This record gives sequence, C-alpha cells and structure tokens, in this order.
Amino acid sequence: MNRKKINILTLQRKKEKEQPITMLTAYDYTGALLVDQAEIDMILVGDSLGMVMMGLDSTVPVTMDEMLHHCRAVARGAKYAFLVGDMPFLSYQVSPAEAVRNAGRFLKEAGMNSVKLEGGQEMVPTIEAIVQAGIPVMGHLGLTPQSISKLGGYRIQGKTAATARQLLDDALALEAAGCYAIVFEAVPAAVAAAISQRLAIPTIGIGAGAGCDGQVLVFHDILGMYDKFLPRFVKQYATLGPAIVAAFSQFREEALARQFPAAEHTYDMDESELAAFLDAVEADG
Ligand code: KIV
Repeated sequence: MNRKKINILTLQRKKEKEQPITMLTAYDYTGALLVDQAEIDMILVGDSLGMVMMGLDSTVPVTMDEMLHHCRAVARGAKYAFLVGDMPFLSYQVSPAEAVRNAGRFLKEAGMNSVKLEGGQEMVPTIEAIVQAGIPVMGHLGLTPQSISKLGGYRIQGKTAATARQLLDDALALEAAGCYAIVFEAVPAAVAAAISQRLAIPTIGIGAGAGCDGQVLVFHDILGMYDKFLPRFVKQYATLGPAIVAAFSQFREEALARQFPAAEHTYDMDESELAAFLDAVEADG
C-alpha cells in the first residue's frame, strides 16, 4: 500500500469530506511504532505524560525538557502520523516571543510537526506569533488541565448557554488566529457538534461527543493501563494492565521455581571447550 505521511492539508481535506480524524497520545518510541502501525492519523505527545508516565497529580509541573525528551522518542517511532507536541504550562503564557522560541524547539529539536496549546481569546496574540513563525498550532478548549486551579477541578465545561457561547467565541477567535485544528475536552456533545459545524478547521474531541470531526484518547486509557483516574469519556479497548501484571507474576513464579530459563532460552558451547574450561577451573582450585 502506498501510505503517505499525514500533513495539515490531509487533515483539512478530511474535514471537508466529513471523514473522521483519529488521534492518540504516545510518549515513547515503541508506543509510537504501535500507534503508527494502526494507521492513526495524528499522534499527540501530550503533557498527560506527567500523570501516566511520571506519576504526577496534574500536568502543571511538566517541563519543556521532559516534553522534548518524549517527543524525540516518538518522532523516531512514527513515520506516517502527523505529530503534535503539547506545550507545557508556562512555556507559552509569559510572552509571545518566549512562546515562539519554545514552540520552535518542538520542531527543531524534537521532530514534531506542530504544537498544541491551551486557552481561548487571550491566547490569540501568542497563536498569531507562533503561526507567523511557520509553526502549525492546534488549540485546546473546554476542560484545559493546565488551568485546573482556576477551573476548580476536572469538570465538564460549557454547560450553560453563556459558557457554551464563550466556547464558540473562543473557537472562532482561535480559527481566525490561524489554528489548524482545535481539541475540545469535556464539553456537552451538542455544544461541540454545533461549534464543529461553524468552524472550517477540524475539531478533535475527547469527552465531546460524536459530532466532532475527530476523536482522541490517551494511550494508557485506551489500553486499560491506568486506572488512577478514569473519566466517563474513556473507553478501554483492551485491559493490558491486568495482562501485564499476570505476565510479570508468571515470570516471577517460574524464576523462583527455576523453570525459567528453559533450554531454548540458553546458550550452549562446544563440549571440548567446556571440558577445557572446567579442567582449568578445577586446576585453579
Ligand atoms: O495531554 C493530553 O494528553 C491532552 C489530551 C487529553 C487531548 O491534551
């Protein structure tokens, strides 16, 4: 099959042809290889890595260096998916100039194709500056985990007519500023669907219903490997957590019983070489 690398135009065409876009997060080389093999359109190296890879309670402490480290590994594993690097908290809020410099590092140093950042109309000057530098920007509206202190917790956004209207205004502002796509997280399905119809650019939903132009899930959630926090919108397509623990336990039991390694996992040597070696050991006393 003549498989081509996904780019911004591919994504825009999918929106126009009403073909759903798929996105998953990945954080390392092996994970990216697997996601790419499944022909997923986009890989997000999300700052969710703070929670699922680093065991933090939120995404807030994640640093640029940590993001770039994981992005490099993903870029080595994914040949076809369009790659999105998530800008961590305070890497883009201080000034547009600093945001451009940090966004550029995702492309120059870590092999990403674009960046994602959270926020609405207040982010317009920053988005414009990054896009002007030639870096594609994906927006992120609704539940924006970096602002968890301001939002008062991980709660659904846009549930009143006024806050839904605010979401629409933010989305239109992000589109006008040059975003090529917007993630909607934890938003009523009807609101996300109505906004998706008003936008010319694709929307990618997570907990935002089937009316978005695409869907995204977190690697560890879809595989059933992380149950510390399981939002309603997660569908586990596998339960690898228990399967992994079962494999580790079986290894332990077999190693304790000296059943592992078996002959087929063991290297042989020439018998005469072995005899000479054992004679030498014996001679040494
Ligand atoms: O960091 C992340 O994984 C994300 C997704 C939830 C969209 O931002």
